[in-house]
Amino acid sequence: MNRLALAVDPLEHTPPSVDREVKKSADPVLVSLSDVHLSFGAAPVLNGINLSVRRGEAVSIIGPSGSGKSTILRCINGLIAPQHGEIRVDGIDVRAQHTDAQKIALRKRIGFVFQQYNLFPHLSVLANLTIAPVSVLGRSRAEAEHDAHALLKKVRLADKAHAYPGELSGGQQQRVAIARTLAMRPDLILFDEVTSALDPETVGEVLNVIGELVDDGQTCVLVTHEMRFAEDVSDEVFFTEGGVIVEHGEPSQIFGAPDNDRTRLFLQRARGEDRRALRKRSRSNAALALATL
Ligand SMILES: Nc1ncnc2c1ncn2[C@@H]1O[C@H](COP(=O)(O)OP(=O)(O)OP(=O)(O)O)[C@@H](O)[C@H]1O
Ligand SMILES: [Mg+2]
Repeated sequence: MNRLALAVDPLEHTPPSVDREVKKSADPVLVSLSDVHLSFGAAPVLNGINLSVRRGEAVSIIGPSGSGKSTILRCINGLIAPQHGEIRVDGIDVRAQHTDAQKIALRKRIGFVFQQYNLFPHLSVLANLTIAPVSVLGRSRAEAEHDAHALLKKVRLADKAHAYPGELSGGQQQRVAIARTLAMRPDLILFDEVTSALDPETVGEVLNVIGELVDDGQTCVLVTHEMRFAEDVSDEVFFTEGGVIVEHGEPSQIFGAPDNDRTRLFLQRARGEDRRALRKRSRSNAALALATL
């Protein structure tokens, strides 16, 4: 694990609380997609996706822009319905959830964190974290607030409970968004490019929080352009292009010895961008350190 290299403050990193290698081996499949095909109008976007995620695993989907990564996530939580194929989450046939009540029940179990944080700007951080557990899950306010404070501590924002989103940095808002998702105690969290809109100096703190959730055994599907992060946290990596999974495997294989030329070319380009982003990030951190002297 080299996640410490990504951390803003390495001293804040807490070690994994469970041995994931032992735990996951006996776990059943939580998410499965079988031969999923989806078109928008006449345009085919997913052309036979097969993917599975075991409980407690972190799976990353990488690939060029427009290759269908976000569409796969939106199919998993039933936001869009493919024309063909089967999607199951904890045994539930996602395509068969037709009523609003069925869809809401499914989405209660699947957290979705996006590039945009979508926090309620007129509510405090604490209220952002408690509104859904109280109104959707029927928890008592006291219980929801107790949970919220614990989650804010987990994402290292214990002192921001009474702040408003507009008073926080992008990285802090994204960590509130992650805490809000965790407040629903989801079985599965889908992360779609959650660091893409952030200033370089706040990317590490968000990746670090996600890495710790993965270490805690939270089942995750991550769409990311952060290749070092994907390599570091994932149990399995899927490379998509043109709506198909070109290649998948353990991160050491995908990043170390990809079978497919397309994967190799994509990774070469992505690593160049990663290096540029890291240089930019370290310049920002150095500037920040100078500014605070
Ligand atoms: N609602 C929609 N209507 C029509 N076409 C869509 C819709 N959503 C996505 N598409 C198309 O489907 C294709 C796959 O989109 P998707 O957002 O899944 O790509 P992606 O791999 O997530 O890309 P990026 O890395 O840029 O986020 C693209 O060509 C996109 O234009
Ligand atoms: Mg996308």
